Amino acid sequence: MIQLKNIERSYKTAAGQSWVLRRINLEIEQGEFITIMGPSGAGKSSLLNVLALLDDAWQGEYWFREEAAHQMKRKQRGELAKKNIGVVFQSYHLLDDLTVRENIDLPLSYKDIPNKQRQGMVADALDRFQMVAKKDLFPSQLSGGQQQLVGIARAVIHKPSLLLADEPTGNLHSSQAKEIMELFLELNKQGTTIVQVTHSEANAAYGSRTIQLRDGWMVSDTAHPEFVSGAAVVNQ
Ligand SMILES: Nc1ncnc2c1ncn2[C@@H]1O[C@H](COP(=O)(O)OP(=O)(O)OP(=O)(O)O)[C@@H](O)[C@H]1O
Ligand SMILES: [Mg+2]
Repeated sequence: MIQLKNIERSYKTAAGQSWVLRRINLEIEQGEFITIMGPSGAGKSSLLNVLALLDDAWQGEYWFREEAAHQMKRKQRGELAKKNIGVVFQSYHLLDDLTVRENIDLPLSYKDIPNKQRQGMVADALDRFQMVAKKDLFPSQLSGGQQQLVGIARAVIHKPSLLLADEPTGNLHSSQAKEIMELFLELNKQGTTIVQVTHSEANAAYGSRTIQLRDGWMVSDTAHPEFVSGAAVVNQ
């Protein structure tokens, strides 16, 4: 589904050039559930931003279903992302002047979905994430964990073919975190390819492959297909 070839990302700082991603080569197959781990500052969010097609200040090649994203104009890349990718951001990135309901509805506006069906999908998501009572509130009126749930609802509502989730359960109670991971597993079984960033071993166990980053370098890439059915999770 995705091929990254020699992806490099750096920032110009007062001290000179600072590298955050180094020669990343990564192939992601359709239907995989990948976990990215590594210490703070290792480049995990930076890599996710590249995958999300949000960042364009990198070098290298990015192939999305045989399309050369690295050669696309910003608008074309944005269209590709909107149609195919759902992102749960580490710091939520909800739109402050839209209500909970409007935030969740946003990705559906990029797709050609009849109004009635769209309203039904939003109602289902509000219900599933226990946000019905909060639907007309603005993000600033929610707790951190509630904002995180809205961010997750928004990322999954349009059933993206690729779901990118950056510490999606960092602000949730462990039982809620488990529910979210079960939801991800269910989406994965239905065909959604998932890349999650987490510090949690319990969350990592839901994936079938773990990639470790250190100082911008991919230092390991381990398949653990025995976890694919969630068996490891059940046995905990
Ligand atoms: N705008 C920026 N300017 C300069 N350096 C930056 C900028 N954004 C990120 N970095 C640097 O990139 C490196 C990687 O950051 P990144 O956010 O990808 O880390 P991370 O692995 O997601 O960490 P965490 O686990 O804390 O979320 C860090 O050293 C950070 O200082
Ligand atoms: Mg991060």
